[in-house]
Amino acid sequence: MNHLSVNNLTGIRGLTENDLELIFQAATEFKEVINRPIKKVPSLRDFTVANLFFENSTRTRLSFELAQKRLSADVVNFSASNSSVRKGETLTDTVNNILAMKVDMVVMRHPHPGAPHFLANKIDTSIINAGDGTHEHPTQALLDAFSLRQKLGDLAGVNIAIVGDIRHSRVAISNILCLKLLGANVRVCGPKTLIPKHIESLGVEVSHKLDETLQWCDVANMLRIQLERQGEKTVPYFPSLREYANEYGLNARRLENLNKPITIMHPGPINRGVEVTSEVADSEHSIILQQVENGVAIRMAVLYLLAMKR
Ligand code: NCD
Repeated sequence: MNHLSVNNLTGIRGLTENDLELIFQAATEFKEVINRPIKKVPSLRDFTVANLFFENSTRTRLSFELAQKRLSADVVNFSASNSSVRKGETLTDTVNNILAMKVDMVVMRHPHPGAPHFLANKIDTSIINAGDGTHEHPTQALLDAFSLRQKLGDLAGVNIAIVGDIRHSRVAISNILCLKLLGANVRVCGPKTLIPKHIESLGVEVSHKLDETLQWCDVANMLRIQLERQGEKTVPYFPSLREYANEYGLNARRLENLNKPITIMHPGPINRGVEVTSEVADSEHSIILQQVENGVAIRMAVLYLLAMKR
């Protein structure tokens, strides 16, 4: 099949292996385009995309906007901080008002899990989920898997560790679903307080020991401690950032103790000195900046393939 099985990208859940292959194939072609001196193709000319960001974002928003512009789409940006949402408008009303201005596709980030699914049932425009609360962040998982495939080839049987704040991470859930679909072995690692109960039901192993996990894995995806999501809790999830960094931070000493190289990833933004030290983030085994570059190509692929379905 040469078209996606879905009309919206609300999550990795619901995608097929064939969908992933189509997205990766298109992203490979678009990556070639964005590395040319003239980085633009007319694929989405006369097509209008609205970026609706009800939660802060720098890199994801910029990455989507660049992807849209490289495809020659018209782009409108909306952020909740200066909108009528503050005046009490409902999500459906806000979006319907924007759609009445003849928008062809919506990219949405929202603090509430399920918000894009809710909207997808109410409007007949395609929606791309750019992160819904602690639920899913599908384009991040796609760009992560694409970056790994470019470095390691087929991911079947590759051991991938996702380390850190799994409880609050939409990146973790989407990554697990995507990597399992591609046949990788996935293990989550972090303090007990930051690993959700029953996560094994997604087919992953759980460990609370970083050094042992590093021995096991070929790839370590180091997730950010999401302090902004932990704020309301009176008893914190761990004693201090320093203690967290000691137990779960990746540093050069830990890597030297392994008798093999491993690939280091991070979705950004990095808390340098917490999840990874600068030395590790900037080392030859880190693919953090490739992830960012591939983000634009992956988002071009998703925008293009969904637009083709309309
Ligand atoms: C992630 C996010 O916003 O979910 N970042 C991103 O999209 N680049 C992860 C994070 O905020 O830690």
